[in-house]
Amino acid sequence: MRVLLTGATGLLGRWIVHCWRPDDGTLIPTNSRGGTLGPHPCLALDLTDAAQVQLALDQSNPDLILHAAAISKPEAARRDPALAWHVNVRGTSLLALWCRHHNRRILLTSTDLVFDGQRGNYSEDASPSPIVEYARTKLAAEALVRDTPGGLVARVCLLYGPSLGGPPTFFDQALADLRQGRPRAFFADEFRTPLDLPTAARALIDLAHSDVAGTLHLAGPERVSRFELFRRLAPVLGYDANLVQPGRLADLPSPEPRPADVSLCSLRLSQILPELHRPPIEEAASRWT
Ligand SMILES: NC(=O)c1ccc[n+]([C@@H]2O[C@H](COP(=O)([O-])OP(=O)(O)OC[C@H]3O[C@@H](n4cnc5c(N)ncnc54)[C@H](OP(=O)(O)O)[C@@H]3O)[C@@H](O)[C@H]2O)c1
Repeated sequence: MRVLLTGATGLLGRWIVHCWRPDDGTLIPTNSRGGTLGPHPCLALDLTDAAQVQLALDQSNPDLILHAAAISKPEAARRDPALAWHVNVRGTSLLALWCRHHNRRILLTSTDLVFDGQRGNYSEDASPSPIVEYARTKLAAEALVRDTPGGLVARVCLLYGPSLGGPPTFFDQALADLRQGRPRAFFADEFRTPLDLPTAARALIDLAHSDVAGTLHLAGPERVSRFELFRRLAPVLGYDANLVQPGRLADLPSPEPRPADVSLCSLRLSQILPELHRPPIEEAASRWT
């Protein structure tokens, strides 16, 4: 099977490339500018350039598009909503259209932020109601993928783990602070179901090989705050857990609201991929040391 990966140079994309095994088939990594990704060539597929997208797809002729490219930071989408809609929605529509014409599948990585966060433990049949611009673009992209025969929307939770290159992430910076003995506050009143990056990457590859369509929640096994996440990671990684301090959403006013609880229920995922082990926080961290 030939799988074209968009967003191969992103946080998740790099892990997908890393976790890809020879028996998974042929992976075609792409990003907006082309170049190389370690030993792999990276094809240029700029989602704002319709002609380039068409050419890249025609030439590489994938069986499935694993679509992980996006303007993925809520703050970036808030600052430049026109670009976010262009990349996240119009870009997805180009990929979906190609798949419809060629009878190929598309798997979109969406987000837990499509929910307003008032209830938590959302299952796939819960009604999305995004409160940030980024998530409004992702919800619009979801509809395009669901309208494509065989299309799968994987709503991904907060991902954690070290990055494999690219600019340092929130996670990298937080761990750097703890490593250097600097106290750092994390929201104790915002809840997610975080999942470690290698497990998320493996699950997406397995889903690419499945014939699952529709919507699926891909999340970790526990509902925790960022405070609890880092409090539990710190000792496993050899850092002082007391440096991890509780913060409150109200302490950090932001131009857009932050959903309080977008924890996801992954029951459907466990039925579809029963062999997928989603490790608890301590176990995931122990694998990086
Ligand atoms: N990280 C998380 O915790 C999380 C949680 C839930 C959902 N997700 C979803 O998972 C996916 C991956 O997220 P991420 O954190 O890995 O994002 P990321 O680190 O910000 O990477 C974004 C990727 O998108 C590519 N991209 C941006 N603009 C593009 C364009 N115009 N044309 C083609 N590619 C473009 C970037 O390529 P360049 O290097 O060329 O710019 C990069 O490879 C996204 O769909 C995101 O919504 C992530």
